[in-house]
Amino acid sequence: MRGRVGLLFLLLAAGCGDRKDAVTQTALERIRENRVMLIAHRGASKAMPENTLPAFQEAQAAFVDLIELDYRHTKDGRPVVIHDETLDRTTDAVARWGGADIRVASRTLDDIRQLDAGLWFDKRFRNTRVPTLEGAVSIIELEALALIERKSGDAKTLVDWLRTTGRLNSVVVQAFDWTFLAQCRALAPDLAIGALGREAATDDDLRTLRSFGAVAVGWRAKDLDAARIKRFHANGQKVWAYTVNDPEAAKKLITAGVDGIITDDPFTIGPLLDD
Ligand code: G3P
Ligand code: CA
Repeated sequence: MRGRVGLLFLLLAAGCGDRKDAVTQTALERIRENRVMLIAHRGASKAMPENTLPAFQEAQAAFVDLIELDYRHTKDGRPVVIHDETLDRTTDAVARWGGADIRVASRTLDDIRQLDAGLWFDKRFRNTRVPTLEGAVSIIELEALALIERKSGDAKTLVDWLRTTGRLNSVVVQAFDWTFLAQCRALAPDLAIGALGREAATDDDLRTLRSFGAVAVGWRAKDLDAARIKRFHANGQKVWAYTVNDPEAAKKLITAGVDGIITDDPFTIGPLLDD
């Protein structure tokens, strides 16, 4: 039930929290629960500017299980939460600095923190900033599991940060770059790792997933059916489908056996998962 985590917080506050709950469970334990997870894609990104603190807070209001974000490294090697390789689409970088195709990797954290990451979406979100990875995860983890997608940046920086902040067992790391995931595994034997992919997984893909101990795959929804889902399950992975905003498509995937729906619109998709 979608209100489960919020309810547990209320019970804890009232001194009634005598069950092992979402606060003390590791990421692996939470992922392995036998129910379909609701996963907010870039936060509640239909209603709010993607990958911003308002989007993450809105997702919490929909009682999601996981909140996905994308991060990249700045010029000075600091992880910031943004999807695209350039700042153009989701910030006012072009209006402010001129030019085009302004790469995240070409600017420092200080520069990027000056930008507005809300105005492109709606003027109500003026003065919303590009979050740091630390800022985003600190908010997300209050009421959900952080699903951290690496777009750029090395494995050591991420794993060192997770270790020094005590988060190695409490987040999920995912990427399309499976070499990066294997590097994470070498550095962190217990890290919960999700592998992103599309089209049909080959036998070789399945072997690779096993080699770095992927606990989940995030797979393009249109490439999934019951047989392919079963194949991942037999290989040891939970299956999360991206990106699903249409309720009928979500229902079909649930019937086919997926373990999670990644959506921009958790308020619409969430109630389908409560049955
Ligand atoms: O979580 C899956 C999804 O986020 C992958 O695609 O391009 O939105 O990062 P993208
Ligand atoms: Ca993503």
